[in-house]
Amino acid sequence: MKLLIANWKMAPDTPVQAVALAKATAGIARTYKKGVTIVVCVPYVHIGHLAKATKTLLIGGQTVAATTTIASTGLISASMLRAVGCSYCIVGHSESRAQGETNETVQQQLHALLDKKIIPILCVGEKTRDTQGWYLSIIKDQIESALENVPKSTLKRLVIAYEPIWAIGEAADREATPGESLEMIIFIRKIIADLYDEKIAASITILYGGSVNETNGHTFIREGGADGLLVGRVSLEPKRFAKIADSLSKIEQ
Ligand code: PGA
Repeated sequence: MKLLIANWKMAPDTPVQAVALAKATAGIARTYKKGVTIVVCVPYVHIGHLAKATKTLLIGGQTVAATTTIASTGLISASMLRAVGCSYCIVGHSESRAQGETNETVQQQLHALLDKKIIPILCVGEKTRDTQGWYLSIIKDQIESALENVPKSTLKRLVIAYEPIWAIGEAADREATPGESLEMIIFIRKIIADLYDEKIAASITILYGGSVNETNGHTFIREGGADGLLVGRVSLEPKRFAKIADSLSKIEQ
């Protein structure tokens, strides 16, 4: 089964638009449900509307409070996400890290989600690549820090998404190659094997994200070692998103 996550980021503007997009995405999820699991990670204000409008679509948040204290104006807790129907939540997205989330915050967020039985989608990624391979230590730090005190038994409920910052969004320098994805995903499995064991490292779900589209998406799975994709901009365009789901459904399990 391939995992296809839509990250709507800060869009769309209105609940009416969000419900229309969710219904279109739910249709795609139904069409490809045999081979592809689709999850939409949406802005908080839309979650309640979507949960009512589409009973079948898996819904996720885009970040979560690191704390459970009520004195956290403006934040949303893992309990609240659970209560409105979220089963997944992104943590450590580079755009959230750019707003001040640190490795320590991400670790607390991950624990908060696991406590409430919400599947964390832990995003890791380096800002730039260098020829000496220092970027590998950024990823190692991000993963080791996030997984501190996370018991092995909960790892099967964790998704890791490798998203090189230089390949994300409209400001991307360029697309990553499947070879670059493969190298990093092997490296991430090695980190997990060193922290836990090889069996869990082999079974953990690792996604690729960053400028994924209907042309390159399947290559990150066929040649890039990924178990699925995290899609930003193109997830707001149902026709193109459907083509990604279609291409994933054709990959042998
Ligand atoms: P993008 O965003 O697909 O628009 O590059 C991916 C992400 O930030 O999750």
